[in-house]
Formats: sequence, structure tokens, C-alpha cells
Amino acid sequence: MAIDLKTNFTGLEFVNPFVLASAPPTESKAKIMKAFEAGWGGVVTKTIGLHPVENVAGPKTIYQRTGEEKPYVSRNKRANTVSHSSWNWELISDQPLEQWLPDLKEIKEAYPDRMVIASIMAGAGSAEEMKNWQTLATSVIGVGCDALELNLSCPHMDRKDMGAHIANDEAVIRSVLKAVKEVVDVPVWVKLTPSTSSFVEAAGVAYDAGADCISLCNTFPSLPLMDPETMKFEVEVDGLVTSGGQGGLAILNQALQKVNSLSKAYPDQAISGIGGIKGFREAFNFIVHGAGNLQVCTAAMEEKGSGGVGIKLIQELTGDLADYLERKGYASIEDFRGIARDRIVEHSKIRRKSEDYNGGYAQSA
Ligand SMILES: Cc1cc2nc3c(=O)[nH]c(=O)nc-3n(C[C@H](O)[C@H](O)[C@H](O)COP(=O)(O)O)c2cc1C
Repeated sequence: MAIDLKTNFTGLEFVNPFVLASAPPTESKAKIMKAFEAGWGGVVTKTIGLHPVENVAGPKTIYQRTGEEKPYVSRNKRANTVSHSSWNWELISDQPLEQWLPDLKEIKEAYPDRMVIASIMAGAGSAEEMKNWQTLATSVIGVGCDALELNLSCPHMDRKDMGAHIANDEAVIRSVLKAVKEVVDVPVWVKLTPSTSSFVEAAGVAYDAGADCISLCNTFPSLPLMDPETMKFEVEVDGLVTSGGQGGLAILNQALQKVNSLSKAYPDQAISGIGGIKGFREAFNFIVHGAGNLQVCTAAMEEKGSGGVGIKLIQELTGDLADYLERKGYASIEDFRGIARDRIVEHSKIRRKSEDYNGGYAQSA
């Protein structure tokens, strides 16, 4: 029996559930075309905005590796190492909306069966910024994009009315979703930051305000390392650095914990899982906690010879998923999606050697 990887997610038909996340792999027409040619089911475009964007005068992303012999984490090249994580301080797309629009139109015309989710970002707290969200939304949907992902999670913003700064503000979440949903009638995904203790509540507000999906996680706030010999950060400009975002394998376990918390709170709502996916095993782990769609960034960027879009990676992901479904006799990922959700319990619910442990309390409540 031929295995079909098609998935319907938030009303969109994906040829397979694997999507390139909003980041360098989806920053240009050429890369997106290449990604679709390789077999990705969809892309979330690099975030598009209307405000001025200028990146730092130095590298925007580094790849950290670790090894067995001396297992320190560093971007420094040395033998016998494996990938640990990416660290970046890259802003959203510096390509203007006017340039994105004809590109997006061409991409959709060339690949009508692949999903193009446009990531957009504007500010908050004024009618003008709500208008900016609306302009971005109508423009990208006008040229054929299938859905939107609202970036409420960028960790690199000085502006307090943007990105991760507004990810927790109930009123802002409602006002942005209202503004966007007033002008377009497509699935709206909302990407949140994992860096707050209240992201589950924020997600609840977003779902309630009409979000069709929460995409989790954006990168985790983090610092690059300082080299003890040079006394320099491994990435810096004029000796200075700022809090940036970590992605890749090193964030996998944390991302799964976030996705599980969200999935337990809203088991019937859609989640696109992101964070450290490098192959089928990581994707599987997001699915068993409830994700119905998988996004990948760092692993695609790191794949040598793929132009940073993960050509071998998507072939492996689809091949390994098909093989798994066939071996297990599953028709689709729906057959095992969410099976681990309720096996994450309070500490005291885990069996002890004796019967009378009450979670640290002297007596049971
Ligand atoms: C260099 C770089 C740039 C990124 N730019 C964006 C962006 O513009 N918008 C966005 O929503 N996420 C952005 N991200 C976050 C990724 O989409 C993704 O959420 C994160 O890297 C975790 O996935 P990973 O572990 O597969 O890398 C960026 C990540 C990297 C490494």
C-alpha cells in the first residue's frame, strides 16, 4: 500500500506535514522554490514587516558544535564534533513588502499544491499599527498566500510594542487578531515565544480571539559564549553583544515541554511544533505531544550543499515517516498524535517505593 503523507492542518491540505520555519531558509523566492523542489510541504516565510530593519554589522547567526573528547560548546572549528545549536540575532526580513509580493505570487503559481504561510509583524497600541497589520495581511493574501503566521515572538526587538514584548499582553493579542481577521478570511497562526511563564494563557487568549493555530517555539533567549583565550564573545560587534535566540537540538527537550503544556491546556486546538527537529525522531516527539504540523529551521540551515534549505533532510523526514506509518500500520500521524499528552503528570503522581508520599505534604489533602 502506498503511504500518503497528506495532512489537513487548520483547513489547509499539506502534501506532508513538514514545513520550513520563518527564517533564512524562507527568506527569498530562490530559496523557497528550491525548498519546494526538494519536497517541503510548506513554508512560513521569513517575517515581513513595514518598519525599518537593519541587521548588525557582523555575522547574524552562528552554529555551535560539541564533541566527545572535550565536550565544550563552541562555534570554533575542530575535528569530530556534532551540532549543538544555532544562535542568532537576526532581525526580520529586510526585503520590503513590495518586493515580496511579486515573489510570493510567482511561488504560488509555480507550486499551487504547497502551502505558503506568510509570517507578518507590526507594532501595537495605535490605530496606525493595526492598519499596518491589515496592510501586510491583505497584501500577502492578495497575491495568493494560503495563511498567515502572526509573529508575536521575535526576541530581538528594542521596540516594546513588537515581537516577544507583546506576546503576553492579552489586550494586544486580541486587538491584533481582531484587526487581521477583519480583513482576511484565511487560517491565522500565531507564533509565540517560549520565554514567558504565561505563554499558555497567552495562547488561550489567541485561540479565543480566533487564532487557528499556535506555533511554538520561537528561539529561546540566550547569550553567546565567551572564549577564555581571546576574551571575546564568539559573536560580537565592537566587543558588545545582546540577548539573542537559540535554536537547534539543544532546545528540543525544552520545546517539547512547552508544547506539552499547551497541548494539555487546549487538547482540541491546533499546534505547529518547532524546536530542534533534525529528523523523524524529533518530529515524532512533537506529534505525540499533540502537534499536527512540524516546522524546521536550524537543521535545514546547517545542511551542507543544500543552499540552507535541507534537501536531504526533507527526503529523510518524509521517507522515515512513511516507513514508520507502514511498519506500525498507521494511516496517518493522526493515529499517534497526542498519545503522550496525558502521560506527563504532577511529580507526586509518579509511583514511589512506599505508598505514603504526599507530594512533600505531611498528609494527603
Ligand atoms: C537565523 C534565524 C532567523 C530567524 N528569523 C525568524 C523570523 O524572522 N521570524 C520568526 O518567526 N522566527 C524566526 N526564527 C526562529 C525559527 O523560525 C524557529 O522558530 C527557531 O529557530 C526554532 O527552530 P529550530 O530549532 O528548528 O531552529 C529565526 C531563527 C534563526 C536561526
